[in-house]
Amino acid sequence: MKFSLPAISIAIIGLLSHAVAAYPNPGAVSGSIDVHDPTICRDSSGKWFLFATAPGISIRTSTDRINWSYVGTVWSSGQATWTNTYTGTSNGNLWAPDCTYKSGTFYLYYSASSFGSNKSAIFFAKSTTGLPGSWSNLGLVTSTTTSNNYNAIDPNLIIDGSNWWLSLGSWWTGIKLIQLNPSTGKPSGSTVYSIAQRTAANGAIEAPIIVKNGSYYYLFTSWDICCQGTSSTYNIRVGRSTSITGPYVDKSGVKLTSGGGTLVLAKHDAVYGPGGQHVYKDTDAWVIDYHYYTSSGSKLGINLLDFSSGWPVAY
Ligand SMILES: *[C@@H]1O[C@H](CO)[C@@H](O)[C@H](O)[C@H]1NC(C)=O
Ligand SMILES: *[C@@H]1O[C@H](CO)[C@@H](O)[C@H](O)[C@H]1NC(C)=O
Ligand SMILES: *[C@@H]1O[C@H](CO)[C@@H](O)[C@H](O)[C@H]1NC(C)=O
Repeated sequence: MKFSLPAISIAIIGLLSHAVAAYPNPGAVSGSIDVHDPTICRDSSGKWFLFATAPGISIRTSTDRINWSYVGTVWSSGQATWTNTYTGTSNGNLWAPDCTYKSGTFYLYYSASSFGSNKSAIFFAKSTTGLPGSWSNLGLVTSTTTSNNYNAIDPNLIIDGSNWWLSLGSWWTGIKLIQLNPSTGKPSGSTVYSIAQRTAANGAIEAPIIVKNGSYYYLFTSWDICCQGTSSTYNIRVGRSTSITGPYVDKSGVKLTSGGGTLVLAKHDAVYGPGGQHVYKDTDAWVIDYHYYTSSGSKLGINLLDFSSGWPVAY
């Protein structure tokens, strides 16, 4: 804007931003909770599984969604050789896994890249038990090279009726959506939809998650900077659309492709840089799981989400 807001408007904006800045503390968790980019899914017996960024992808389980036990990794040390060309090493960190449990099968998408690189790939795996040693490598889903203007990391599967879609993306031109063939879990065509983009903050948007509640699809993303300890500025944003391919808009009606995004969680108290989130519908409520930093590292955060106002509110 080229003009100055009157002081009274600034005071009102100040009050409003103060009013929306009250975030809940993460719910109680215990056990093995030092995670990054967590994703939670639940098998038919009701047991919770949490996958997170690690060499081989870490697996934790819980019988109450509070107390988590580390049980091992999806791939044993050095096993995921197909990721080496993207991580630039052997047994490198595999990033931001995304799990979905459906009809007796765990589906896992995950990414391989290195910091700041657009040479990246998303891979697919499945298992019937979710445990170490049980996973089949279903190979490459999509990848980007230095000539792509987007980055193939941070996958999220949404099964929408009989349709499968994968959102992905990080920085560059933002968040993309591609349709998958449900029988292979791989792209069904070559169309790449653009669903969110920022030009502010060097385009710092990543970690898309799409869920459907009522007549809306909700697209959650992480803005700003991850992975810097208590200097991390990650914060969680949302927009909604009646069509999965968009346009998604925020609460003020700004398109997510034009930098819109309503805050869901941001820094508060001793919770720094909440982000890398995943959202799923559990039997009791919608759940948002994410990581945040404290002075002793990256921790698991779990809150519930209330969509009753039409916009998700963490509690
Ligand atoms: C957490 O779970 C582990 C493994 O089942 C168990 O040994 C431990 O006692 C549990 N801790 C709490 C606080 O429930
Ligand atoms: C991808 O990254 C490389 C290396 O940083 C850069 O030279 C290239 O311009 C990037 N590609 C695009 C399309 O931005
Ligand atoms: C949307 O989520 C709210 C809980 O936040 C729930 O009460 C409502 O039933 C959900 N709507 C649908 C259609 O699932």
